[in-house]
Amino acid sequence: MNPSISDETLQLILSKIDINDVIGEYVHLKKSGKNYLGLCPFHAEKTPSFSVHVEKQFYRCFGCGAAGNAVSFLMDIEGYSFPQAVQVLGEKVGINLHVPASSNTETQQKNEEKDVVLKAHHLAAQLFHHVLMERTEGIKAREYLEQRGFRLETLKEFQIGYAPDSWDFLVNFLEKRNYPLSIMEKGGLIAKSENEKFFDRFRNRVIFPIWDTQGNVIAFGGRMLGDGQPKYLNSPESLIFRKNKQLFNFHHARQEIRKQQTTILLEGYVDVISAWQAGVSNVTATMGTSLSDEQARMIRRNSEQVILCFDGDQAGIEGVSRAAEVLEKQGLLIKVAMLPSGSDPDDYIRKFGAAAFRKQIIGEVRSYPSFKLEVLKRGRNLQDEGERMRYIREALTVISRLPHAVERDHYLRSIAEEFSLSLDALKQEQLQIYRSEKKKEGRDKDPGNRNNIVRNEKQFKIKQLYPAYHNAERIVIAYMLRDKEVSDWLELKVGSQFNIDEHSALAAYLYAYYAEGHSPDVHLFLSKLQDQELIQLAAELSLMNINPKPSEKELEDYVSQILSYPVLREIEQKEEERRIAERQGDVLQAALIATEIIKMKQRMKS
Ligand code: CTP
Ligand code: MN
Repeated sequence: MNPSISDETLQLILSKIDINDVIGEYVHLKKSGKNYLGLCPFHAEKTPSFSVHVEKQFYRCFGCGAAGNAVSFLMDIEGYSFPQAVQVLGEKVGINLHVPASSNTETQQKNEEKDVVLKAHHLAAQLFHHVLMERTEGIKAREYLEQRGFRLETLKEFQIGYAPDSWDFLVNFLEKRNYPLSIMEKGGLIAKSENEKFFDRFRNRVIFPIWDTQGNVIAFGGRMLGDGQPKYLNSPESLIFRKNKQLFNFHHARQEIRKQQTTILLEGYVDVISAWQAGVSNVTATMGTSLSDEQARMIRRNSEQVILCFDGDQAGIEGVSRAAEVLEKQGLLIKVAMLPSGSDPDDYIRKFGAAAFRKQIIGEVRSYPSFKLEVLKRGRNLQDEGERMRYIREALTVISRLPHAVERDHYLRSIAEEFSLSLDALKQEQLQIYRSEKKKEGRDKDPGNRNNIVRNEKQFKIKQLYPAYHNAERIVIAYMLRDKEVSDWLELKVGSQFNIDEHSALAAYLYAYYAEGHSPDVHLFLSKLQDQELIQLAAELSLMNINPKPSEKELEDYVSQILSYPVLREIEQKEEERRIAERQGDVLQAALIATEIIKMKQRMKS
């Protein structure tokens, strides 16, 4: 253990800290019996399996197995060292530990440089803001911003500034205050010419400060006053700024994001600021790069849902798909707010006003699959039978990729209704598409990996993480493969109500297998299966590392996970409908849905 922190001090801090407060800053926790439950911040999941035990002051995730106390939580989530984590906790309860940042002189020097660079950024932001607001050099920029509809309070709120048209305005300012220019250059604040002369990076540009989550200015985005290239000039990556680890305006929006459990992701700085002016404040954006896993995790730690609102043109649509792919991995619920083609949120607000943006764009979100189905329609004449059929086939391909039966059913029904087609026929067609896509996938896979079940099992343990209900299904099937009694019991309790189609199929084969009088024998059972996928899955599950004999309580827990999942999803959908009704001012409808939700919750309990 670190010599500078005694066991007594650690115990004292831990006795004063409430783990709930610590974790609650990252995970949205809901009370569940004596403990708290939330979505695990360490792996992607859609149903909560992360629980916090108040009495014992520890957390545990049933999905990925992460577990520990307040210290290990901070170490994992913030990447702190042990002494750093203890120090942060100490500060929360008023115990000051003077832990040296590092005993290593090199890192210590780096930390000192960071401090200076941060201070300089803070000052530079104030300086640029002052120039914009007060000085004559700033008049042109003030006019430009005014003409773009920025209000005075907004300029202040976002500390927007102006960098004058000069090569040494900031350089002189920093030099006078004894800031070492070479460190300033390393920190990305100024630039250096080939003949080693320092000069201002930002000249004649409107300045948008970029903050980290703690509210420190760590970079700037500079925009030209009119047209020209490059339109935006950003600070380079530096010792304090990593583009793909930050989100613009996140520190500012975080509270509202957590309150609404929704993050609205836009494309540009100006879009964020415009939306904020329009009264939508849970908004953020990347720095003009595509969304990284790290940024998606940041969003996930603070909200359950994300709304993508990009330009409605082709590039915007592609941007939505790219971002959605990254967000989906984190288990975020994805919605899309559609803008007309060729306008970004800022254009839209200027054309149609703040109220229209709130109501018609943010208030009218659609699910991500329904966005994809809508996009497929673009530029197509659906009156033409041939085109209509092509559309339906492509739509079915989209639907066949959805992981949940309930969801697939929902969209199949809406297509059946829209085109007056039989639901059964659509279902069949969809299944066919699903099968042929699977086959294609199988063919593309590395043949060396095939049939090598043992290796697959090893990989699965490291890589594959499933949501709790999915895991529950896998585990009960693993038990059923070894135990006839368990299978009989499951047949009564769950029957065919597994959420994953393959699991349903395996269960059906297992019920039949035991009904024929066989005793547990994986090889015999496998020989009865025809489908290569099912054989592979059954083999994988038979190798799962589980207790030799499950307790009844354990099995009951799994069953309740399995059976409550579709109801939970349905409730989620209803909640969404209720929110929409509320936004549209339809109080009666909202109340009706609320009653339905209560009934569903009661039904789930019983
Ligand atoms: N961007 C950038 N460098 C560029 C162009 C764009 O860093 N040369 C980033 C900026 O963060 C910008 C975002 O990408 O906010 C979106 O770019 P774009 O849509 O071109 O600009 P707008 O946000 O619409 O800016 P404006 O309304 O001022 O034209
Ligand atoms: Mn714009």
